[in-house]
Amino acid sequence: MREDPVEKKASMSQRVYDRMADSYDPLMTMYRYAPAVREIVGNALDRVPHQGKVLDMGCGTGFALEAVAARRPDVELTGLDLTPGMLDICRNKIPTAKLILGDFNKVDGYRAFSNGEPAGLDEDYDLIISTGAVSEYADLEATLPLLRDHLRPGGTFLNIGIGRNPVNLISGMLWRFRPRGSRDFMTACERAGFQKVTRQTIRWRWFPTNVLKYAVSARKPDA
Ligand SMILES: C[S@@+](CC[C@H](N)C(=O)[O-])C[C@H]1O[C@@H](n2cnc3c(N)ncnc32)[C@H](O)[C@@H]1O
Repeated sequence: MREDPVEKKASMSQRVYDRMADSYDPLMTMYRYAPAVREIVGNALDRVPHQGKVLDMGCGTGFALEAVAARRPDVELTGLDLTPGMLDICRNKIPTAKLILGDFNKVDGYRAFSNGEPAGLDEDYDLIISTGAVSEYADLEATLPLLRDHLRPGGTFLNIGIGRNPVNLISGMLWRFRPRGSRDFMTACERAGFQKVTRQTIRWRWFPTNVLKYAVSARKPDA
């Protein structure tokens, strides 16, 4: 029987990230990634109410969740990822986060990483973050409307994506994605019904993160 293409893509990504899980944080540290994520995510937290809820789609080892936890210990954190090896590291770094093993291109089949029990996502997150994951690995036409549905009215989606340049086209071959670039990603957000889709600057002092990545925020319309 032929494998479903969504399953096939997911199992390929999972293999790649399981293999590189242990070297992922040292690599990202070399790219000066954490301080850039802290600053960009920090700016989005102003719109998250006291004891609000943040979801990170494709949370990996937890850079963005860590940035939220450092600034806003009151916030409830949920991270979803496909790769057990990445979630294992995330769990050690941020034991308070609720972690879910699952594929963001699917609406079901999610499991709590803690005990393997069936798990679901809420529909009223104040902020959904994705860093180097949704813009690279999602079927945007299907997944962006689902993300919008998981936000409360007026909630924010913040995506840090991998830019479309020669270096990233090559690294995309190794990491199994095709960089889309910010313009295409912003258009897809608008098509999915997001408003106030804006690109944010990643400052030069975060080189080389600034040349590799872009940040886009988008708002779910108020009810
Ligand atoms: C480049 S890493 C980014 C990890 C983390 N967000 C960060 O900024 O460091 C991409 C992550 O997306 C996850 N991923 C890829 N495809 C996915 C999918 N379909 N559903 C959920 N997670 C996925 C991978 O397992 C990996 O952890």
